[in-house]
Amino acid sequence: MKTVHNFNAGPCVLPKEAINAGIEALKEFKGSGMSVVEISHRSKDWEAVMGETEALWRELLNIPENYKVLFLSGGASTQFLMVPFNLFHKKAAYLETGVWAKKAYAEAKGLFGEAAVKVASSADRNYTYVPKQYDIPKDADYFHITTNNTIYGTEIHKDYDCPVTLVADMSSDIMSRPVDVSKYGLIYGGAQKNVGTAGVTFVIVREDILGKTGRYIPTMLDYTTHIKDGSMFNTPPVFPILIMNETLKWVKAQGGVAGMYKKNVEKAALLYNEIDRNKVFTGTAEKEDRSLMNICFVMNKGYEEKEEAFMNLAKERGMVGIKGHRSVGGFRASVYNACPKSSVEALVKCMQEFEKMLS
Ligand SMILES: Cc1ncc(COP(=O)(O)O)c(C=O)c1O
Repeated sequence: MKTVHNFNAGPCVLPKEAINAGIEALKEFKGSGMSVVEISHRSKDWEAVMGETEALWRELLNIPENYKVLFLSGGASTQFLMVPFNLFHKKAAYLETGVWAKKAYAEAKGLFGEAAVKVASSADRNYTYVPKQYDIPKDADYFHITTNNTIYGTEIHKDYDCPVTLVADMSSDIMSRPVDVSKYGLIYGGAQKNVGTAGVTFVIVREDILGKTGRYIPTMLDYTTHIKDGSMFNTPPVFPILIMNETLKWVKAQGGVAGMYKKNVEKAALLYNEIDRNKVFTGTAEKEDRSLMNICFVMNKGYEEKEEAFMNLAKERGMVGIKGHRSVGGFRASVYNACPKSSVEALVKCMQEFEKMLS
């Protein structure tokens, strides 16, 4: 198989161990004579995988007892509407730090109009920073944040002390750093960055925040439906859950979330140091808000014309997925958990080579 340096933003590089375990399970699941996609999701062997996957989440993130862990379908985008459906009573507050945050807010606004409040936005500088000065209405049912802004390369690095229930979209930084789950009412995300493949969505929810809206919630959109049936009210996406299970086992083997964090800090420092040193490139995000997962940079002043030339060199050197999102331009290297340090080193070398070519 061809070797590449995969910097895709998600779907993205996954641990080889998880991919190989997936291939084996596709051929035959636990000596059953059937593929994992042919078995009954009500079988004992499958129930064991569900149980183990939940236990891994609980162990890796130290999730308190009074939280439920759910595996749903519909991606993080469905959570944009499930959150207001389940938590909105009188008012909700949103922090707009990028396109995904904006989309989450749009769903709450679409459902509940002006009672969905945007407390701050960084749209004025194309989401290159995380707003810090704003007031959260004390009577809000919840405050919604996006902890990592995949497109713009900014990240909220700490768990906020929030006066109201804190809800976080952690699609692109879950399992990359230790998180104090007890500071959140609900955490959700699509799996396809750090915890597996598209098709399964994780939700971690503190049970006491549910059941307070006084409204009918469509069955499939009601968290309590899925809590009651252990995420098997309807047929679960077995293959994505299996890949999630194997990815979490790999995270555990790397020293858990603390181990991942240490490696992520090292990888990000390597690349940011080069961006800051190299005269051809410049970073786009505010330094204090720089993401450990998505590293965005553009050509420095005077080198704008050279963007295509660098892209071509990077391609030749085996880099995949470094083109910045179309709304930002430039470059984005997504260095999720499974992206090896050697790939980051290869990209740094390529940037140095390019600088030499131009001097
Ligand atoms: C932070 C964030 N939230 C939400 C989404 C949307 O996720 P999904 O495609 O699972 O709906 C993405 C996708 O990249 C994302 O990065």
